[in-house]
Amino acid sequence: MGRNSETARSNSTIADIGLADEGERRIAWVARHAPVLNLIKERQLSDGSLKGLRVALAIHLEAKTAYLALILAEAGARVTVGGSNPHTTRDDVCAALVRRGLTVHAVRDAPRDEWEQQLERVLDSAPDLIIDDGAELVSRLVTRKPHLIDKVRGSSEETTTGVLKLRAMRQDGLLPWPAVAANDAYCKHLFDNRYGTGQSAIAAVLKATNLLAAGKLVVVVGYGWCGKGVAKYADGMGARVAVTEVDEIKALEAFADGYRVLSMAQAAEVGDIFITTTGGIDAIRGEHVARMKDGAIIANAGHYEHEINLHELREMSGDVAAARENVTEYRLRNGRRVYVLADGELVNIAAGDGHPVEIMDLSFAVQALSAHYLANNYKAMAKGVHALPAEIDRGIARAKLDTLGVQLDQLTPRQREYLRSWR
Ligand code: NAI
Repeated sequence: MGRNSETARSNSTIADIGLADEGERRIAWVARHAPVLNLIKERQLSDGSLKGLRVALAIHLEAKTAYLALILAEAGARVTVGGSNPHTTRDDVCAALVRRGLTVHAVRDAPRDEWEQQLERVLDSAPDLIIDDGAELVSRLVTRKPHLIDKVRGSSEETTTGVLKLRAMRQDGLLPWPAVAANDAYCKHLFDNRYGTGQSAIAAVLKATNLLAAGKLVVVVGYGWCGKGVAKYADGMGARVAVTEVDEIKALEAFADGYRVLSMAQAAEVGDIFITTTGGIDAIRGEHVARMKDGAIIANAGHYEHEINLHELREMSGDVAAARENVTEYRLRNGRRVYVLADGELVNIAAGDGHPVEIMDLSFAVQALSAHYLANNYKAMAKGVHALPAEIDRGIARAKLDTLGVQLDQLTPRQREYLRSWR
């Protein structure tokens, strides 16, 4: 172990450095399947913009995130890493990062108070840039460590829920720097939220339950980007799909896409598997569970577990016991049983492998270039939430197409002229 890693080890909070070899293997697999990040590393990140900057990062801490952290470190940043959710942290990956000389404060399944301390330690690195998921670091820095605010150049946000939180903070006058909504870049939400969540959530539900999808009625709660993906992959596995919504346009879109659209009260009575993707709270409540069939399965793919009201579920249950790994059986007082996967945490990450590597290659290309953009342009950017410039977003798509060997046509001058003229 080199000197850097000795220092990193003594500065870090991780479960077991002895797990580093397994973490390294996982990261190596990601590195082999992340051509866009690898290209960006050579083309853009090597220009010295990140050199010496302190970057604090809190995203679900598994191998793909670790690779992003390593790439930023290779670009010269001093990276400190935490986990955006203790239940999705991988201890082997944390160990590998520490052995490579990065500072990590994350332990899988840490109790809430310890996780809070870990995030505080990440913030104590006094970051110049923050790469965040669910605004976990940003909200804590602003409220608990205001003395560090002035040093921060900006932050970049991974997910829909975090972007909503940042906009709310801005409205309350509490977002003191420019924040890039990485989530809103096309190269993020079109692929990550839709295909990534779709594939990995369905895979995780099937892995956790070892049940057949074909013929079951899967109820997708919320038909946003994630919901569209979950519905598509459930359909692809042979399930029947119903959607519940609160937005007229999304409900109509789901209907036009060929799915049944039901109210939650209707869906509760007929669904076999329920998957929430609303980004909100209480999408499935006690009143719905009371109507569910014996054996109904409930999972959440939104950012927070409170999409399912577990409190009401516990109140209406007698025995609660583990049925399988990541499956908890609730014996309801009405005599039926329902099963909650991964305690309502993001099912695709807590009970599965998370998004496919190629998807996170795109998402983290967005994150890496958001950090790069902020490092160079923060002085000219107003406080508040910003989109990633379209040329950067398009550049990522082009890089991905290059790595796939896909060729594009180009408008001829005559075609361009035609599209510009009104005559
Ligand atoms: P979105 O805003 O595109 O979609 C949410 C949809 O839920 C909207 O159409 C909204 O009308 C609907 N909705 C809200 N409350 C509802 C309710 N009570 N009942 C039925 N429908 C309701 O958001 P997106 O991008 O799909 O993200 C959803 C959640 O998933 C967020 O928390 C986001 O952070 C998270 N996310 C999770 C990922 C994962 O790996 N599992 C990946 C990406 C995002």
